[in-house]
Amino acid sequence: KRPVIIDCDPGIDDAVALLAAFQAPGLDIRAITPVAGNVPLSHTCPNALKILALGGREDIPVYPGADRPLFGQPKEASAVHGEDGLLGWPMPRPKAAPRPERAWDALHREALALGGALEIVATGPLTNLAVALSKYADLPGLIKGIVLMGGGASCGNATPAAEFNMYADPEAAEMVFRSGIPITMCGLDVCYRAYMTHEETAALEALGTPQARFAAAVNRSELQWVEALGIPGAPQYDPCAMLCAIDPSLYTGADCWVGVERSGSLTRGKTVTDAFSDAKRAPRNVRLMLDVDRPRFAAALTDLLSRY
Ligand code: BDR
Ligand code: CA
Repeated sequence: KRPVIIDCDPGIDDAVALLAAFQAPGLDIRAITPVAGNVPLSHTCPNALKILALGGREDIPVYPGADRPLFGQPKEASAVHGEDGLLGWPMPRPKAAPRPERAWDALHREALALGGALEIVATGPLTNLAVALSKYADLPGLIKGIVLMGGGASCGNATPAAEFNMYADPEAAEMVFRSGIPITMCGLDVCYRAYMTHEETAALEALGTPQARFAAAVNRSELQWVEALGIPGAPQYDPCAMLCAIDPSLYTGADCWVGVERSGSLTRGKTVTDAFSDAKRAPRNVRLMLDVDRPRFAAALTDLLSRY
């Protein structure tokens, strides 16, 4: 099994990604490290525990991370995720509690113990990873790869230029992109292509389990935000990155240089992706995913969520 740590800000779509990951036979989930993002850490940390309870995986430890970005004020997206980050959906009461160790220390300890085999799936702002990188100089050599949801080649959502996870902590994101750790990026481009149709959502709901009904409710909620984009279904942001970690053969992309804009007055937090220019900047630090076999993606996600 591949050892992974899931660094996230649950978050409705983080929650669906986690529920899918719990059922992936190839993953050994070593820890969840919540960070402030969609809602404050005072919600994302308890939410991680609630999702573990919903998924029957309270054996997985939760190590709390950063409650604010490296610089500036926290950004949040409670209009999308609900004030509690989970749409106020009734969740089981967790029996587990967060561990006293902090996210960055747990990340480094696991990475060291696993001798280079640890992978990270990151579906929130990258603050925890940035703190870990600044605290532990040997970390880049100890991480096999990071698959992240964030950024985009063509557009933003939090601002016209920037995607939320990048916009929430651009300095942290830039540190991660410059770390030398192999990065696979699922930005908005591929996430908008990784949607679930109304029929697929209805089939998910018809499974009738608490986990599937929650995931269907998340899809229905996401739909209200995408009409203007003309997407014929509910985009799966964080599940897109999770499925990419589980089965990259569903995706196509390009190896290219990516940096994060930090000073632009209109573009702060934008990922600048050099897949298409004549410049072809080096190094090609990112595998930038641009497309997905959508029907296979939706079937694979539904299959994982049907195992409850
Ligand atoms: C990303 O930001 C959050 O709203 C979602 O959880 C996802 O990680 C999409 O821009
Ligand atoms: Ca997220």
